Amino acid sequence: MLFQRNEQRLLVHTPAKLNLYLEIIGRRDDGFHELETFMVSVDLYDTLRFQVPRDHNDLSLTVCSQVPGDIPADERNLVLKAAELLRERAGCAAGAEIALLKRIPVQAGLGGGSSDAAAALVGLNDVWALGLSRRELHELAAELGSDVNFFLEQTRAAVCRGRGELVQPVKPGPQLHFVVSHPGFGLSTADVFRACSISDCPSNIEEFTRGFLRGHTSLHNRLSAAAVSLEPGLGELAEAFVGPNGMTGSGSAWFEVAKSRRTAVRRANLVRSRFPLGITFAASMNI
Ligand code: C5P
Repeated sequence: MLFQRNEQRLLVHTPAKLNLYLEIIGRRDDGFHELETFMVSVDLYDTLRFQVPRDHNDLSLTVCSQVPGDIPADERNLVLKAAELLRERAGCAAGAEIALLKRIPVQAGLGGGSSDAAAALVGLNDVWALGLSRRELHELAAELGSDVNFFLEQTRAAVCRGRGELVQPVKPGPQLHFVVSHPGFGLSTADVFRACSISDCPSNIEEFTRGFLRGHTSLHNRLSAAAVSLEPGLGELAEAFVGPNGMTGSGSAWFEVAKSRRTAVRRANLVRSRFPLGITFAASMNI
């Protein structure tokens, strides 16, 4: 996350993520899945602006979006859920005017909504001067969604376990570059998890992490077969990729590892010309 502040306003730029590895370990009694995933943060950002009004205690959200799809500006939005939760737990009555600029495609597996929620927790903890600790913010993050803790940690790479909320930052490896493509339709996370079949012999994240730190990238995502079965159009998009490639999270975005930023930009132009209805861009791991 990047922060810019002046006396009255705080701007938070909060990143997207890619899952380079995702394995399902089992189904849990609470309806969620136990997983192991390796996530990296990339340089595509949503921006949130926080301002505390002087004359009222209301919470308001306005959304300006550069991506297709409906983004609610009411209590369905995780930003307002985060703000309400923070107010309730901290016993705070202050108001906030929040403006959200969306650049991260939605229902894409890029973690945009979770990243916004993490930014809301950090930003409002600051502008309301609540002084909640990192641990307390992590507890709230876990209630909001499985990926929110990763963004709260503000790390460039991490192994995440449990529902995804147990985050273990990984020491810096090589900076990777990607071509990322959203096919123009989203996928419901719950539907993809439901359609996924769990392997009898799950693959091993330790092996993946060791390879990553040595510069090898053999991507793995247990959810991708389920996503393609729900949306066969995703299989067509995947065929446009030539290098190591895979799906992020529960989809629908697909990505390829490129040798350099320059190659990523060139490849993104090619994929975009083949799939003009989607959103395709080059992205690099944050350093
Ligand atoms: O936690 P989040 O809101 O991102 O999860 C959305 C849905 O995805 C959950 O309601 C659940 O159906 C599914 N999910 C799951 N196991 C996880 C994470 C998400 O089954 N570890």
